[in-house]
Amino acid sequence: MYYPEELIEEIRSRNDIVDVISGYVKLQKKGASYFGLCPFHNEKSPSFSVSGQKQMYYCFGCGAGGNVFTFLMEYENYTFVEAVKALAQRAGITLPEAEPSAQEKKEASLRQKLLEINKLAAKYFYFQLTQPQGAAARNYLEGRQLSHETIVKFGLGYSNKFSNDLYQYLRSAGYDDYILKETGLVTLDEKRGGYDKFWNRVMFPIMDINNRVIGFGGRVLGDGTPKYLNSPETKLFDKSRNLYGLNLARRSRRPNMIICEGYMDVISMHQAGFDNAVASLGTAFTSPQASLLKRYTDEVLLAYDSDGAGVKAALRAIPMLKEAGLRSRVISMKPYKDPDEFIKNLGTEAFEERIAHAQNSFMFEISVMEKDYDLNDPDGKTGFFNAIAKKLLEFNQELERKNYIEAVARQYGIAFNDLNRLVNRYGLSGYGQNQTRASAQDRSDGGQTGQKRRQEKEDAVVTAQKLLLTWLCEDTGLFDKIGDWISPQDFTDGLCHEAAVCVFEEYEKKKTVTPARIISLFEDKEEHDAIARAFNTTIRDENDKAAREKAINETVRRIKTASLEHMSKNARDIATLQEIIRQRKALQKLHISL
Ligand code: UTP
Ligand code: MN
Repeated sequence: MYYPEELIEEIRSRNDIVDVISGYVKLQKKGASYFGLCPFHNEKSPSFSVSGQKQMYYCFGCGAGGNVFTFLMEYENYTFVEAVKALAQRAGITLPEAEPSAQEKKEASLRQKLLEINKLAAKYFYFQLTQPQGAAARNYLEGRQLSHETIVKFGLGYSNKFSNDLYQYLRSAGYDDYILKETGLVTLDEKRGGYDKFWNRVMFPIMDINNRVIGFGGRVLGDGTPKYLNSPETKLFDKSRNLYGLNLARRSRRPNMIICEGYMDVISMHQAGFDNAVASLGTAFTSPQASLLKRYTDEVLLAYDSDGAGVKAALRAIPMLKEAGLRSRVISMKPYKDPDEFIKNLGTEAFEERIAHAQNSFMFEISVMEKDYDLNDPDGKTGFFNAIAKKLLEFNQELERKNYIEAVARQYGIAFNDLNRLVNRYGLSGYGQNQTRASAQDRSDGGQTGQKRRQEKEDAVVTAQKLLLTWLCEDTGLFDKIGDWISPQDFTDGLCHEAAVCVFEEYEKKKTVTPARIISLFEDKEEHDAIARAFNTTIRDENDKAAREKAINETVRRIKTASLEHMSKNARDIATLQEIIRQRKALQKLHISL
């Protein structure tokens, strides 16, 4: 359903964010804002702020943020439209009846239908499990010590022995072949007609983070191959961007996430109280999954199988997690095969113990490497330490590298200085391109690479753009003061540019700016967080006029300089270049007084 922007805005403005959030979170007034314990991550002291003036919330701890719609979407797992409906009702606003355009109807209906069918299929499988024909599957699950509560929580089911009963059921529910073939649940054959993909298996519905069924895994009862059958990828089901159990784990109060290999591992961990466990979907762990996890946590614990395949999977996952900005540690399952068996044999407390002693992932990687060398042989030992030294160059930051050198030195009985010298020698001798540059420059400029410096400069410009946006929203008087210098084009960062276009446009039309309104224009959750962050970027000494004036001048100068630099890179003709030169000169005279 499409609602006009003015209606959305009316609904938003008639639901005060402080009132709405107070219904969920205990808030206390502190200065101009309200603070409380963040409902989106685990914390002991409040870093979740709600601003009545901006009509936005922002958590300084986890970066969650947005307006009143975003809050309900996050907290209640609502879609945008659901949040709009709920808040319209709360404010006593009647919404127009659904009247989508043909195009909208077509686009929305395919996904919607696939979701409906998956939900229906999950219910059907669950129903089969409760019926007499489901006895074998019930016994199987009981044998694996799953409680009734767990079975319901994960929506487990059973696909029975008929080869086309689900197909018939879905047909009788009114779905045509053309849509059923998109679900991955049935195969259509010219001679045989439609038949079910899953047959005599325990069914594991796979849900997205909003608890919607997007696919299935099915396990044979006992032995047989393949052990698991999974839905193929469909318009709904992207195996590299979802994780089994994340719909539950994202609500966990535990400080990290646990990744394991199998569906059964996730389920038994949740049953044992480790409600932060997730697994990939019958495929290897991927980078998009690492980024997905980064939205909810900073640390990941790997609980892969203790066999060779599990070690390999961990070695593959570790660099991806690091790349996504996550810390990681490895939990040892020995002497058991996987978390499911471990918990069954040793129980919850023993697993807590293993979590507490989980191994730092770099040390884990080294301990795997160690197996390739004979440490009793002098050559073997030399080879091993050389390999470690090369690997230590992964750490670009000097302090971090020193800490790891120290840890390795302690663990493997080599003198810190010896290993440090070895690492530096590799660094200087040109080993490993990036790493080398990093460590060679460490000496010359105290730890900054050229690439890093460029990055920092870029970050500073983006921060400046965010600051200026915030100030413009807080004090619309600034528009006239900076008007000669800055326009939306000067915001070179993609997101800031979009926000700036909205902010300037609104000011031009109405002479006011509503940051919370601007958020509704963006669809993506991550963009909501980023904009909320942008609007909450502030500087110290805000109350000191001289400091503020200086900050504004510096900020405007920084933004304009970067923007001119950007322009000159893309300039194709003399006139543009001359204009840039003129503006650069003018910029030297910049003085904005408040
Ligand atoms: P495991 O064989 O370790 O599964 O495979 P598991 O969850 O421990 O199974 P149980 O305890 O024997 O019931 C790990 C994961 O690999 C995928 C599934 O996602 C499974 O959960 N897998 C495994 C398949 O997709 N197909 C297979 O045939 C086997
Ligand atoms: Mn298992």
